[in-house]
Amino acid sequence: MTLEEKIGQLNLINSDYGTISSTTRKALQDGAVGGILNEVDPTTIKELQRIAIEDSRLGIPLLAGRDIIHGFRTIFPIPLGLAATWNEELGEHCGHISAAEATSVGLNWTFAPIVDICRDPRWGRVAESFGEDPYLCSQMAIAMIKGFQGESLELPGSMAVCLKHFAGYGACESGKDYNTTNIPENELRNVHLPPFKAAIDAGALSLMTSFSDLDGVPATANSFILQTILRDEWIFDGIVVSDWESVSQLIDHGFARNEKEAAYLAASAGIDMEMTSTTFTDNLSQLIDEGKISIDDINRKVANILRLKFRLGLFDINDDFINVQVNVTDHKKYIKEAAIQSCVLLKNKNKILPLKSQSLSSIAVIGPLSDEPHEQLGTWVFDGDVAYSETPLKSLQASLPDSIQINYIKGLENSRSKDKSNFTNIIQLAEQSDLVLMFMGEEAILAGEAHCRADIRLPGAQEELIDAVSKTGKPIVLIIMTGRPLALESVVDKVDAILCAWHPGSYAGPAIIDLLLGVQSPSGKLPITFPRITGQIPIYYSHKNTGRPGTPESITFIDDIDVGAPQHSFGNTSFHLDIPNSPLFPFGFGLSYTTFKYENLKLSDDKIILGNSFTVSVELTNSGDYEAMETVQLYIRDLVGSVTRPVKELKKFKKVSLKPNEKVLISFELSTDDLAFYGRDNIRKCETGEFHLWVGSSSNAELITAFEVIE
Ligand code: GLC
Repeated sequence: MTLEEKIGQLNLINSDYGTISSTTRKALQDGAVGGILNEVDPTTIKELQRIAIEDSRLGIPLLAGRDIIHGFRTIFPIPLGLAATWNEELGEHCGHISAAEATSVGLNWTFAPIVDICRDPRWGRVAESFGEDPYLCSQMAIAMIKGFQGESLELPGSMAVCLKHFAGYGACESGKDYNTTNIPENELRNVHLPPFKAAIDAGALSLMTSFSDLDGVPATANSFILQTILRDEWIFDGIVVSDWESVSQLIDHGFARNEKEAAYLAASAGIDMEMTSTTFTDNLSQLIDEGKISIDDINRKVANILRLKFRLGLFDINDDFINVQVNVTDHKKYIKEAAIQSCVLLKNKNKILPLKSQSLSSIAVIGPLSDEPHEQLGTWVFDGDVAYSETPLKSLQASLPDSIQINYIKGLENSRSKDKSNFTNIIQLAEQSDLVLMFMGEEAILAGEAHCRADIRLPGAQEELIDAVSKTGKPIVLIIMTGRPLALESVVDKVDAILCAWHPGSYAGPAIIDLLLGVQSPSGKLPITFPRITGQIPIYYSHKNTGRPGTPESITFIDDIDVGAPQHSFGNTSFHLDIPNSPLFPFGFGLSYTTFKYENLKLSDDKIILGNSFTVSVELTNSGDYEAMETVQLYIRDLVGSVTRPVKELKKFKKVSLKPNEKVLISFELSTDDLAFYGRDNIRKCETGEFHLWVGSSSNAELITAFEVIE
């Protein structure tokens, strides 16, 4: 390979969207392109590959990438919703079905899964994440990778994943996208890196760097994460691609004086492929001539990229590679099931749900998200086909008996509307109905990249609409479609039931209506904490105890303080005066139409020698009268560590379905390696000492036992 051809492999260009410009064609003929993104027209992809393979000297095929985040044509719930299923199988189906649809047009690389840990729901990209917990995120990422990459990357219907965004992107200050992150190494290693490591161990062969700077060094030029961690410690042999122009943005960061220095800093830190900016193409050969970048380094980058192309079987693609239609049987079934299991029942006062349709003669359906084929798909759905969308209103109309009248009024034109001129009609309609279903939340555009909100309450006049309808005294079921947790403190007491559906994807309608009508019981569990108000953020279950732990009582002091009160303490612990210390809904929480009883939590041993494993067992009974799924969650607390440890950490979970009165023995195998963490020396190990262990249905699990790890 000539030097120009080598540098060409490091160049990831954007497509011309269904056509091939003369510039692109020439670059391909010159062997100056290693990959292309955002082309989804099969004929164009075929011609791009043909030019690269037949019209260039070396005939090296292209990586063809796209953001296939939670579906391609038919859309699964957003990743935050998929995480709420706690169901790895559904995560795998999402990857497999997405890959089948995307590879059929000739794509071979997806920029997913997003494994950023997020504890600040103001950040728009929380919608793309699997939430706040490293273990749950890791398990869902592993499952999705299995689905995307299949048994072998060379097989039809398989495509390479690209983990993102490396690393710590979800910790952007004030939840503003692209903003600064300052993450101590110990927290980076214990919280933000584990999902990347788990995903690489599961076979992920590419990573994308994040736009953000990490402790003052932009991730795209951060040799600590790109070389020390990724290559030296993890021995990663895949490729690292920059994010969109994140190499040239080193100048905007004030980290590089010019594009040549940006190229030098990114290439020497460990970027293999530059997305859409051209600092590598324009400057690397000069940097090599000046001895600043070695040809060995370039060869390593090229080798990484060619290795991925070989693993993808791209050197053996033949003419009909884009016509391979991988049959995915029952894909609608899995997409609908994922939407069903992603829904989290947050409130169900007096068991108003499931709807007792036999006792209803009219239902009011109100809200800007009742019948929105596009909005229900959520973010990152460039290729989603709204023709597949089935909305809640249409599904309700198709499911309810004619004896029940459906009184529909949108009420607000969209989720941001502040126009209350229709409120009188809405209230009249509610008063004429036996029950009110309100489909509220966020339009898809209010979450996702660069779509962050400083106030995560229901937008527009939705809170006022709920307030107005609540004054009719009619029972209200609030169904929330959203790309993030919403601060529902001011509406939670005004409705009888709340079902969080996230953005549930193509089959939002059938899924939500099946749940409302009791065809299935809700089984979703929160993958992220719901704060009461925005001001509580960050608030997450695996917090540290501090030296003065606040109590999660529900009393709000501020109203009880005497006027003119002398300076004195309310206990000097860690809490806010003006809001209870607890979240509105905790991580792992989700109600069911039945109840589950946990009994007889036992350990095979309560003194565990370092390096050994032990069994945890608990008896679980469906103590209600509904068949339902439960996600059994296992949490531990390391009481004393060489660094402070969280008050709880999720270590295992298992989802089971039980019939009424059915009892099963649930057991988990736990090793001391599961208890390992990066201590003060930033070396990963399990430290001896005492532990608490809980098993239950949320991070508020109360059934507790204890054990000790000994030398
Ligand atoms: C975007 C996103 C990244 C995406 C890339 C290509 O800016 O940050 O997640 O994969 O560009 O679309």
